[in-house]
Amino acid sequence: MSAPLLEVKGLTTWYPIRRGVWSRTVRHVQALTDVSLAIQEGETLGIVGESGCGKTTLGRTLVGLERPMAGAMLLRGAVLPAGIRPAALQRQVQMIFQDPAAALNPRLTVLDLLTEALAYHGLLTESREATALQLLRDVGLDGAALHRYPFEFSGGQRQRISVARALALRPSLIICDEAVSALDVSVQAQVLNLLMDLKEKYRLSYLFISHDINVVRFIADRVAVMYLGRIVEEGPTEDVIGSPAHPYTQALISAVPAVGREASARRPLGGELPSPSRPPAGCPFHPRCPSAMEICKTAAPPTISKGAQKVSCHLYSRDLSSQ
Ligand SMILES: Nc1ncnc2c1ncn2[C@@H]1O[C@H](COP(=O)(O)OP(=O)(O)O)[C@@H](O)[C@H]1O
Ligand SMILES: [Mg+2]
Repeated sequence: MSAPLLEVKGLTTWYPIRRGVWSRTVRHVQALTDVSLAIQEGETLGIVGESGCGKTTLGRTLVGLERPMAGAMLLRGAVLPAGIRPAALQRQVQMIFQDPAAALNPRLTVLDLLTEALAYHGLLTESREATALQLLRDVGLDGAALHRYPFEFSGGQRQRISVARALALRPSLIICDEAVSALDVSVQAQVLNLLMDLKEKYRLSYLFISHDINVVRFIADRVAVMYLGRIVEEGPTEDVIGSPAHPYTQALISAVPAVGREASARRPLGGELPSPSRPPAGCPFHPRCPSAMEICKTAAPPTISKGAQKVSCHLYSRDLSSQ
């Protein structure tokens, strides 16, 4: 089998917390710890988890906006350097953010926004207008948009412009970080359908980050569940959402009305998300876990294959030892 489009091994990104006049590093926010995942060509991998679990840090590390402390990133089997990347590699992975109003420079027209990166990389083969027009058509907008500014558009249109901007460099992978979360439900569906169409047309892969399980269920082939900077469960979307193995995934999904069981069977997650600067010992989920055992307080859980799913939980190590 050929190498995955993107593979990540043991990726760890911590933010230093500095104190005092010498700005000494006293602790770290452990935003991303030992994350391993793979995205195949043409695949959409969803990332779900509560706010603060490290989803954005994962995306930012993959596009080179954060420098990881440890781990390896491979694009089609070739190691991606962690620091400044060669332009050709930079173009391969693009990112779309939740708030297009903040991501799009308000002083630039759509024409500039869609062509500045191409011009920078020396990749403009046609006129700027012709290039921008094609990109606008790809995202369902017309030429009337060319000489307008981002504030003149609705939220959904602005997100289409962000998509066009990401497409301009013909990337292989687009990281969508809560890309539809700020939009009304009907507009959300339109943008999701657009992303699906573009995936077919340009054989794109997506890393689709969202706190909304329903959105991820709609768009993702596989899904990875994050808790306190770690992936706790991963597998085909229908398996993970239909029969979640990790107690955290079970709690997360049972809290979603449209997917979870009826209200009486819901088991909402108690307690607060612990601070990622002082994650609990053992399994980081053990203080909130309804199935926690003695071992969960001290030992990090092993990652175990359960059918097509992978789950990091001591509950399943018993199955392993009895095999
Ligand atoms: N630049 C930063 N400096 C320090 N801490 C940060 C920074 N960015 C994010 N964090 C912290 O890292 C953790 C993960 O954040 P983030 O990746 O944004 O999570 P999510 O996108 O899942 O909400 C949070 O505790 C957040 O407060
Ligand atoms: Mg985020």
